[in-house]
This record gives sequence, C-alpha cells and structure tokens, in this order.
Amino acid sequence: MFLTREEERILSGEEGEAYAKAIEAVVKVGEIFGAEKLIPVKHAHVSGISYFNIGDAGREFIGELAASGVRFSVYTTANPYAIIEEVNGKKYPEKVLWSQNEIINSLRAMGAKVFTCAPYFIRPPDRGEHLAWAESNAVLFTNSVLGAWTNREGGPLALFEAIAGRTYYAGVHRREGRIPRYLISVFRPSNFFEASALGYLTGKLSPDSIPYVKGLADVPIPMVRLFLAAFGSTSGAPMVVLEGITPEYESYFKEASFEDRFSIGKEELRELRRESTATKGKIYMLGCPHLSRDEIGEIASFIERYCAAPEGRELWLLTSTDINISVDVEEFLARKNVKILKGICPIVSRLDMLGVEEVVTDSGKAFFYLPKLAKVRPVLKDRYVLLKEFCGVRE
Ligand code: F3S
Repeated sequence: MFLTREEERILSGEEGEAYAKAIEAVVKVGEIFGAEKLIPVKHAHVSGISYFNIGDAGREFIGELAASGVRFSVYTTANPYAIIEEVNGKKYPEKVLWSQNEIINSLRAMGAKVFTCAPYFIRPPDRGEHLAWAESNAVLFTNSVLGAWTNREGGPLALFEAIAGRTYYAGVHRREGRIPRYLISVFRPSNFFEASALGYLTGKLSPDSIPYVKGLADVPIPMVRLFLAAFGSTSGAPMVVLEGITPEYESYFKEASFEDRFSIGKEELRELRRESTATKGKIYMLGCPHLSRDEIGEIASFIERYCAAPEGRELWLLTSTDINISVDVEEFLARKNVKILKGICPIVSRLDMLGVEEVVTDSGKAFFYLPKLAKVRPVLKDRYVLLKEFCGVRE
C-alpha cells in the first residue's frame, strides 16, 4: 500500500505507540481489501460500547487506550450505551454500572463528543465526504440518503480510524464498490410498521450485497430511516440505492447489470405481525434509531392531544445525549409516563434483568435484536398504532 511520508512517520512510532498501532490496524485491514492507499476522514463514529456486549476485555482495552494519552484525531461520535439509570425501581449490579461508566468516561477522555446512533443529525456530512462510521443504520443512511461515503466498519476498527484520522480506500469509498447487484421492487409503505417490515424483508433478499430498491421515492425520511435500520439487521450491506432518493441513483441504475430481481408485496408482511401478550413488564419504545428533535415534538403533540393518564404503561423515547428539549416538554412528558432516554440503547441492555418482559416498538431493527441481546419478546407496530395503544385510545 502506498503511504504518505506523514503516514510512514506515524507508523514508525514517532507520534507514540498507540498512534502507530492504530494506523497499522487500518493499513492491515486495507491490505486485506486490496486498498492502494489511505484517505483522510472528517468524522469517525465508534460503536460496540455496551458493557453487556464487550465485557471486561473491551472495557480494559478502551481504558488502556485512554490512559495512554491517545486522542481522536478527527471529530468523533460514539454509539449509545447500556441503561445506567433505575428502571421500575430496579438497577443493574454495581459492577455493571461502574464498568459502563468507565467505558463512557474513557471515550469522552479520548474526545468522543456525543453518544448517539444518528450522528448525521449531530454533524450532517457533506455529499461525497469520506467517513469512518461503525453503526449500521448510520452507515446505511449516510451512504444511501446523504451521499456521503463510509464502509460499514466494526467497532474496534472505527476506534483505530478515529485515532488515525484515516480509513482505507476500498469498498464503498470507491465508486465501483457502490454498484447495486439486485433489483428489488417494494410497495409504497404508508406507515412505520410497513417501512420497518419492508426493510427487514429486503435485507433478507440481499444479505451481503447492495440492492437497488424501487418504491420508496416519496416516502417521508423518518420512515426511510426505519427501513434502512431494519435492512441493516438482516443484511450486511453498507448501502441501498434508493430510487428517487440516493444521489446519482439514475447512474447507478445504468451501470448495474442485475443478477436477480425480486418484489415484496403486502401479504409478505404477515410473518412479522403479532399481538402483545404481556400483562406485566411491558415497555413501549420509539427511537431505534435515535429520534430527531422534530420527531420528539410530533410525538409530544400526539401525547398532548390524546393521552389522559396512561396508567401502568410506560413509553421510552430514545435520543442523543446532546439533544435540546425544553424542560417544560420533558416535565410534561414525564407526567404522562413518557421517559426521554438520552445516549441510551435499551436493545444492548439486558432488559430482562430490569423486569421487562416485552417491548412494543416501531423498529424492525429492535424487533430483530431485542430477543437476542435484551432477552425480551418484541412486538412490531406502526408508530401511531403504538402511541394510541399506549394512550388507551380506542380505534
Ligand atoms: Fe440505535 Fe440501539 Fe437501535 S444503537 S439503532 S437504538 S439498536
């Protein structure tokens, strides 16, 4: 691989051992993928920071990096972490809380600015900008909707890329790496359930390749976000070319020679429909991926209009650490049993240990991961069906 003089200097250890190790890791991965050079990135996004997922080995690794004095060379955000608050009068053991806080503090010490899984709201990338991001929904949204360029990195590699300020020039950083392989036609989703379910099923049809998807052209962006997040749970691809949305989608279409064509109709969503059965330990949850300020405003307006006092029911709204929501709105929502959880990902938290048995969500991604990671039963519903059920509004 060609390295600049500056990169050679860092690799030789002139900036210190940690920087040398970071750039060495990026070079090694780049060589595996046939990259001819490294390229600078403007923004790195680190994932895999839940203590439940990375355990003591991960905590020690991040802690030792921070203690060595190494710092991120570029603007860096990080994924949300496991719940560190009390839920229904229950908390995780002290060891879990201490360990999760250690991970957060180490990342902050290295320069992590915000904890979120929607980093594109915090620092929207420019079209054509190169990034090193490691959260599937964020990667898919930025490649497919914003037209910025990032591979779908693993958590540790994104950490090294944040330190090195560089990534390897391969995969979807190259134009030829962005050409779709399958053509998938979907019906136009009219609600959040359909958008999530379609993403989930589209991912199953294209588990390791970029598809070209027809049918979402004029769908509202919050639904496109849910489509892409769900797609990322059943597919490892870093991008979907969305007809009418992805910048330059016409030229991607022209350059593709599709190996296969599929279509998804409404009847195929049946396998994802199920009713809530929990009598206790039920949580309603929106914000996988994290909600924007506007979405929280829309949900608050709905609650104000329709919710009297949802007795015994609790709604969680997930969002970024730095989001600016007025104290009045937060207090109003708290009176209606609505909690705003900032910087948190309940899906990477052991919810069963907090007495939760079932989570009702509008997210296909949460639907996929909740049983595996949080050990609870998921129910997938449209956002407004979910809100009506939470508020006790009869159809
Ligand atoms: Fe975000 Fe966690 Fe969902 S990281 S996209 S809330 S699984």
